[in-house]
Amino acid sequence: MTTLIINIEQLVGTREQNELLRGKALAVLPIIENAFVLIEDGIITDYGAMYELELKVPQLPKHIIKADGQFLLPAWCDSHTHLVFAGSREHEFVDKIKGLSYADIAAKGGGILHSAQKLNDASEDELFNAAWKRLDEVAKLGTGAIEIKSGYGLTVEGELKMLRVIKRLKEKSSLLIRSTFLGAHTYPLLFKEDHAGYIRSIITEMLPVIGNEKLADYVDVFCENGFFSVDEMECICRASMRYGLKPKLHINQLNSIGGLQRAIQLNAVSVDHLETMTDKDISDLSSSNTIGTLLPTAAFFLRMQYQPARQLIDNNCAIALASDYNPGSSPSGNMNYVTALSCIQMKMLPAEAINAATINGAYAMELEKETGSITVGKKANLIFTKPVPSLSYLPYSFGNNLIDKVMIGGGFV
Ligand code: NIG
Ligand code: FE
Repeated sequence: MTTLIINIEQLVGTREQNELLRGKALAVLPIIENAFVLIEDGIITDYGAMYELELKVPQLPKHIIKADGQFLLPAWCDSHTHLVFAGSREHEFVDKIKGLSYADIAAKGGGILHSAQKLNDASEDELFNAAWKRLDEVAKLGTGAIEIKSGYGLTVEGELKMLRVIKRLKEKSSLLIRSTFLGAHTYPLLFKEDHAGYIRSIITEMLPVIGNEKLADYVDVFCENGFFSVDEMECICRASMRYGLKPKLHINQLNSIGGLQRAIQLNAVSVDHLETMTDKDISDLSSSNTIGTLLPTAAFFLRMQYQPARQLIDNNCAIALASDYNPGSSPSGNMNYVTALSCIQMKMLPAEAINAATINGAYAMELEKETGSITVGKKANLIFTKPVPSLSYLPYSFGNNLIDKVMIGGGFV
């Protein structure tokens, strides 16, 4: 089917070529005013200014959508989520209001372990149905591509169950989905005193099945004091890389312990969180090919310091923005709020936030050939805004629903 969208107030994020944006380039967001987009079978085949329409599309298709007064953006690319989970953790939310820290709650057997208990009690279908609902919700909020992690199973059956749910989501959803194996999220109670034993289970029992059934694209490790050490992370990554899983890692959330440097040595696609960065961490990241993925809603929810976005950008690091959607530290997958918060609390310019949440997010999932910008040959994954006075109005008017509709692969969700 051919669809033509005309009279677009501003067509945002038009790019002839793909480029991972760093430094000053992150603030450059190409826009065409009074524009059109042509879509064939879900793929963008042309775009331009309305005055070029007659020349570029001499024969108008039957299906025409008028977008008068509307801005069109590439759909969000959310490159870090834990969207598959069972239950919720608002009881811990209240405990935190009363004064307990994230670490206190983890030490009490709450946190990730609580979610793991719930997950292991849930059936694959229950998990799938709950995740499907969340996926539908985030799609309506403008997300067109998403990475989803395991990590609440922490047993062979639990981890494989999560990854099989993600595989089913991939098969059934029109969203672009990447799957990440996060068996090393924390140590399960059974292996509390036997870390080597759990790592052995990851390597000898989980990874061979994951490799065989092609259940994951990436491997993740929560590299942090009290969780997995830098050496343990390297060991798990190297074993995973033998099955073709590339590292995409939880780094520097609470402490800077050298995980960032090791991740770069391992050629990690991305290092994610980065609330706690030394000057050396920033300079090492800037001279690497690894993307720094900032998760400001996790810092917001846990009342931590935000990621040093300005310093990272000004030092030429390539950064992406993601939601970290999970029941413990970011119970929301709303990328509109992620971009608004990035502008409000991390002083990112609206153009920088939009680029970091679209094209750079696509790079952080190696999906840049398929999505992240308005480019010929990419999927028609588009956000249609309600009439707004300017692009900056989107993050400025935070918390308001400014999305009129969302197109994924040429069809509306
Ligand atoms: O990215 N920090 C590690 N993992 C998650 C939180 C997981 C949880 O609390 O359930 C995160 O913030
Ligand atoms: Fe996370």
